[in-house]
Amino acid sequence: MAKNNTIFVCAECGATSPRWLGRCPSCGKFNTMAEEAVKSDKPEKNNRAVYSQARAQKLSAVTFERYDRTPSGISEFDTVLGGGIVAGSLVLLGGDPGIGKSTLLTQIAAHLSHGHKVLYFSAEESCSQVKMRAERLQLDTGELYIVNETCIDGLESELDGVQFCIIDSIQAVYTDDLSSSSGSVGQVRECATKLMRTAKSRGITFFIVGHVTKEGALAGPKVLEHIMDTVLYFEGENQENYRILRAVKNRFGNVSEVGVFEMTDRGIAAVTDYSGIFLSESRGQEAGCAVTPAQTGNRCMNVEIQTLISKTAFGQPRRMPLGIDYNKLALLLAVLEKRCSLPFQSYDVYINAMGGIKLSEPACDLAVCAALASAHTDEPIDKYTAIFGEVGLTGEVRAVSYAEKRVQECVKMGFRRVLLPAKNMKSVAKYADKINIVPILYVNSMIKTLFGQGSNRAKA
Ligand SMILES: Nc1ncnc2c1ncn2[C@@H]1O[C@H](COP(=O)(O)OP(=O)(O)OP(=O)(O)O)[C@@H](O)[C@H]1O
Ligand SMILES: [Mg+2]
Repeated sequence: MAKNNTIFVCAECGATSPRWLGRCPSCGKFNTMAEEAVKSDKPEKNNRAVYSQARAQKLSAVTFERYDRTPSGISEFDTVLGGGIVAGSLVLLGGDPGIGKSTLLTQIAAHLSHGHKVLYFSAEESCSQVKMRAERLQLDTGELYIVNETCIDGLESELDGVQFCIIDSIQAVYTDDLSSSSGSVGQVRECATKLMRTAKSRGITFFIVGHVTKEGALAGPKVLEHIMDTVLYFEGENQENYRILRAVKNRFGNVSEVGVFEMTDRGIAAVTDYSGIFLSESRGQEAGCAVTPAQTGNRCMNVEIQTLISKTAFGQPRRMPLGIDYNKLALLLAVLEKRCSLPFQSYDVYINAMGGIKLSEPACDLAVCAALASAHTDEPIDKYTAIFGEVGLTGEVRAVSYAEKRVQECVKMGFRRVLLPAKNMKSVAKYADKINIVPILYVNSMIKTLFGQGSNRAKA
């Protein structure tokens, strides 16, 4: 009787089975059965006793404490979290192998260990490996404790006095309540739920490392993201030094904030002057490039959009956007084709936002159109021109938010001309002496402004 019972539950329909099945007998889906612990039924009266303590009260009478935020020592990390670390929160940090998750969290742990007790629960690396990293990064570790363990059940006893705990990683730890191996859907969910209970009951902040799948999503059940207060993705090319930290969920802040980091030999450092890193050196020489002042969270950054088009060899033309939504690209191609007579149906289209940044706001539409038109006409866009605006299906250019901030950023970066929605002119007129402001009403008129009437487009 001492052994805990487990059942297998279908993640799709919730059907249960006492043993694992490859195919759910209820909904017919494959590989959806995950193990779950059967909790011993609590005596009914106990549950009622707990319930009876909770009484409905007026919302206006509820008292609360403001989030107590602790600085992590890395300014960009605090920005992404919404202004610092909130006590008792669960922060999931996902990212590709070797991107620097453990490095970032070791640095933060070392900073927090001066004044707080911090526990590094390392399930992937031995204590000496973590020590070696700390030595290499020349970290000064005060009250930083380390434990090399994979079973999470003993964690509770180690948490006395601890304020911050790092779990590296959720896929490598397991709980004895389930018989499945670590990293399985059931184990990940159960371990995360246990950590959440501990975090909320004892006010300990957990930083949890999560692995990502080949497709780039966090490995494990979706419910893992629901349990967390904050879900961060650490992205970037391994060969490049720049890394981008994005929040995809944040209960305590804005999710559109991004943090830019640099991998140095002293570890990960915040990049404070990020203004030129999303622009290429060869800008203005090759066709197919356009620059847009993109607003991410509270900051505005000039980002270069590069496109390449090539004749489709056979069959369906390919559309390959990186950093730009696929459906958005299809929509803008249709607008260019219908409203500006730029046919793309016999071309493969590749489009990339520089530096691995994701452009999700509609204000980037006009620059995407400009880059595509430049690639099609084979005429480069002037190096000192920036473009922003939302494009409608009729081909009209709509006003966007933060127009003033965007123009300001262009002035700061030394741009000489900015193409923007005509409806935004009023708010930016005061910059007319610093930069040439060109109001645009229709996508078609932007193409004429950029490439003139007698462009190669006529040949298409
Ligand atoms: N001796 C070294 N000198 C300089 N940089 C190093 C050194 N060792 C490791 N690195 C850098 O640290 C990175 C690995 O960092 P880290 O171990 O924090 O990644 P991770 O995301 O935790 O990986 P994993 O998913 O495997 O745990 C490497 O990509 C490399 O760039
Ligand atoms: Mg690691």
